[in-house]
Amino acid sequence: MFSTVQPAPSDPILGLTERFIADPRPDKVNLGVGVYQDENGSLPLLRCVDAAEQTLAGQHRPKGYLPIDGLPDYTREVKELVFGPGSPAVMDDRVVTAQALGGTGALRIGADFLHQLSPEATVLVSTPSWENHRALFTRAGFTVRGYRYYDPEAHGIDVDGMLADLAAAPAGTIVVLHACCHNPTGYDLTADQWDRVIDVVVAGGLVPFIDMAYQGFSQGLEEDAAVIRAFAARTDSFLCSSSFSKSFGLYGERVGALSIVCADADEAARVRSQVKVVIRTNYSSPSTHGALLVSTVLGDPQLRLAWTQELAGMRDRIKQMRGALVQGLAGAGVPDDMSFITDQVGMFSYSGLDARQMARLREEFGVYGTDAGRICVAALNPSNVDRVARSIAAVV
Ligand code: LMR
Repeated sequence: MFSTVQPAPSDPILGLTERFIADPRPDKVNLGVGVYQDENGSLPLLRCVDAAEQTLAGQHRPKGYLPIDGLPDYTREVKELVFGPGSPAVMDDRVVTAQALGGTGALRIGADFLHQLSPEATVLVSTPSWENHRALFTRAGFTVRGYRYYDPEAHGIDVDGMLADLAAAPAGTIVVLHACCHNPTGYDLTADQWDRVIDVVVAGGLVPFIDMAYQGFSQGLEEDAAVIRAFAARTDSFLCSSSFSKSFGLYGERVGALSIVCADADEAARVRSQVKVVIRTNYSSPSTHGALLVSTVLGDPQLRLAWTQELAGMRDRIKQMRGALVQGLAGAGVPDDMSFITDQVGMFSYSGLDARQMARLREEFGVYGTDAGRICVAALNPSNVDRVARSIAAVV
């Protein structure tokens, strides 16, 4: 039965973690996967999450099934976080929010739902994008193509190229956009540029699918969700995936959500019923613990405040590490101006290194980043940043 099965290539991001774990060198550094580490190089348990966990442990709750579309307290809080308090779309009951297994799960539920509606549609992803975008939408049955985004010469975004590619797409094309902290480049559109993108998307009848895996890691929770609110003001059909892996440090709990904005409450009810079928036929219903943690924190004013402060602490530490890396690279003798690293936002820096240089970093220095040249700045700390800088200097 399985004799013809071919080995699949290892995952470009999570496969690196497997290789990192197998690497015996004590001074190895994992800048491959997007996981935040604190100044000691440890994955932190947020204090607000720890407190919520204590509260839940004291409640001795039985472990029943959640509704197919998730914990109601959780999806209500997520809606407010994503669309803002008093959002007209939410008030009108036009937003369907379903709990999902992380941001990836949300993307996949959305992709399966869209494929059922529109199997011939093309999906456009930015060039480059998070590696799993292309794989996931392809796996869901779509033809996936790229739109221009990163301009390596300018260390920035090819906005005109992006607008031209979106304007050329036929109506009904699904466009995957990054709400903030573009993965992998770290370059986000300005508010004015977003307005131009929204104009083209709305005029062309495209279907935006906005991935928001890093809300709070660029400017702040409200600022980073501005594009969602801008889309909600201009169109009544788009999708948004959100993730709390990074912002709550709940990677392994797989806590995310898919939100779908609809034209009216009746349409939303029909969409919800179809989304529930997608979920039920995949994994039946989501798991409880992570969603309870997030809704406990968001529903308690003190814990919520503590969370926003801890999130701000992560955001600020990453910014400091960007500065330290630029300094370290100059100190290690890299002649080029590397200050673009401090212009980028979020967890990643797109270093400009090619696959060969990334392989040397890995093999000779035990510094792991993706072959595309992405490094996770959120895993740098005062003890490893100079070594990383010297390793990069040795391969450029
Ligand atoms: C990443 O880009 O490294 C993260 O989003 C983790 C993942 O699932 O790829």
